[in-house]
Amino acid sequence: MSLTKEPKPEPGVSRRGFIRGVGLGGGAIGTGILEHEAQAAQPAGGKIIGPGAVPVTLQVNGKIHKLNLEPRVTLLDALRDHLDYTGAKKVCDQGVCGSCTVLVDGRAVYACSVLAIDAQGKDVQTVESLSGGGKVDPIITAFVANDGLQCGFCTPGWVMATKAFLAKNPNPTYEQVKEGFGGNLCRCGTYTGIRRAVLQSAKDLKGGANA
Ligand code: FES
Ligand code: FES
Repeated sequence: MSLTKEPKPEPGVSRRGFIRGVGLGGGAIGTGILEHEAQAAQPAGGKIIGPGAVPVTLQVNGKIHKLNLEPRVTLLDALRDHLDYTGAKKVCDQGVCGSCTVLVDGRAVYACSVLAIDAQGKDVQTVESLSGGGKVDPIITAFVANDGLQCGFCTPGWVMATKAFLAKNPNPTYEQVKEGFGGNLCRCGTYTGIRRAVLQSAKDLKGGANA
């Protein structure tokens, strides 16, 4: 995935407001597997929406949720504060650390940098979808087995990034893992364990490079 230059905020739009206005329709900006989409904030169909709450329908982990949200609400805040999906963590809230990573139509995105209103009609998947009913996704098992965490704040983001990464690269090398996860930061420095967990996940899911 190529790293494209971030478009400049328009005059009068704060940096934070600009990041929050980034939508899900244009070209990708990102580091490694993680991306948020570069699209200048625009009213849908030329119609001004908000600033008051408007009906928003989200599909999260296969379940439909009907909400009333101000258009400025990010997907991360909608998930955590309005729907109680707290797996995605708010750490930097600036599209830098990857702790808020969720999948939107199978692609890893920074949920703090996507507006909830723009995620309508898309399939949102959070880390909560990877366990339940007595089953745990092999990616989670591999993170535990390889000590791919210390404080754990970044871990849900890494797990979801791993899911998106392995869907694209089922047999990665260590170097590809290193490069592919440039958009996720771990302040505890458990990178070695995390990378081992990604490689083990590849093997467990499909028979990875060293299987
Ligand atoms: S909280 Fe979203 S990238 Fe850090
Ligand atoms: S485990 Fe603490 S920031 Fe990653």
